[in-house]
Amino acid sequence: MKVGIFDSGTGGMSVLHEAYHLLGDDVSYIFYADLDHVPYGLKTTDQIIKYSKDIAEFLIKKGVDAIVVACNTATAAAIEVLRHDYDLPILGMEPAVKPAVEETELRKRILVMATPVTIREDKLAHLLERVDDYHRVDLLPMPNLVTFAENGEFDSENVESYILERLDNLNISDYQALVLGCTHFNYFKPSFRKIFGSCTLIIDGNAGTIRHLADICGLKLNDKPDKKVEFSDLSNMLKYGKTEYYISGRPINDEIYYNKLLTLHNRLEAIREL
Ligand code: DGL
Repeated sequence: MKVGIFDSGTGGMSVLHEAYHLLGDDVSYIFYADLDHVPYGLKTTDQIIKYSKDIAEFLIKKGVDAIVVACNTATAAAIEVLRHDYDLPILGMEPAVKPAVEETELRKRILVMATPVTIREDKLAHLLERVDDYHRVDLLPMPNLVTFAENGEFDSENVESYILERLDNLNISDYQALVLGCTHFNYFKPSFRKIFGSCTLIIDGNAGTIRHLADICGLKLNDKPDKKVEFSDLSNMLKYGKTEYYISGRPINDEIYYNKLLTLHNRLEAIREL
């Protein structure tokens, strides 16, 4: 079984990384980062639909059996078109509001951080209509975090002051859960943990998406999901899941970039339990 996973950029690596934890070695992967067009969160819906269709066609030509849209923004803008136009399982990602509602107390609030597109598209409003019965969810667009992530800037003072600035009008102690509604935001978990404290749940949709993929495609879940997935060198990383990496349709042939991916995988592993 070959799975194509795509995102506007390296955020989708957090979904690939979770797949390594949860799925067995009968699955291989193509990971596609559309770095020519990142960030999607500041593009029009039509642009995102076009990029997503180009990527789906590329992945289908490469022989994938299923596609994971590892991007909340592309899901919000394009998932219906993709499912209508292509005949294979296509899984999207939505901010994990449902588990947040289920896992928190009624008197507490939930904060969803996402890109401006995810917040503006109807999909999230429909999700809230279905699951946020007591109007406990607040939405906060974080337009600059994707660019920080693509620049590999995760723990700097700039990042922390940007997050604090965006939270300026909110009372942090009201929130029992923070939902990461963008796959790039996973890289900032240490800053979120520092700002929100140890009692706030930080919830992302990665494991839910991979479990759903397993369910739809009849894949067996790994019986040791918490075994460490970290890489000492590139060959070790590339062997894992026989993953092929592409940037906007071009295979990566640059060791510096591969090393960046290795650092990202190892960062994701180190902060997985935060
Ligand atoms: N990782 C994408 C998401 O989950 C980021 C979109 C962007 O490029 O702005 O929404």
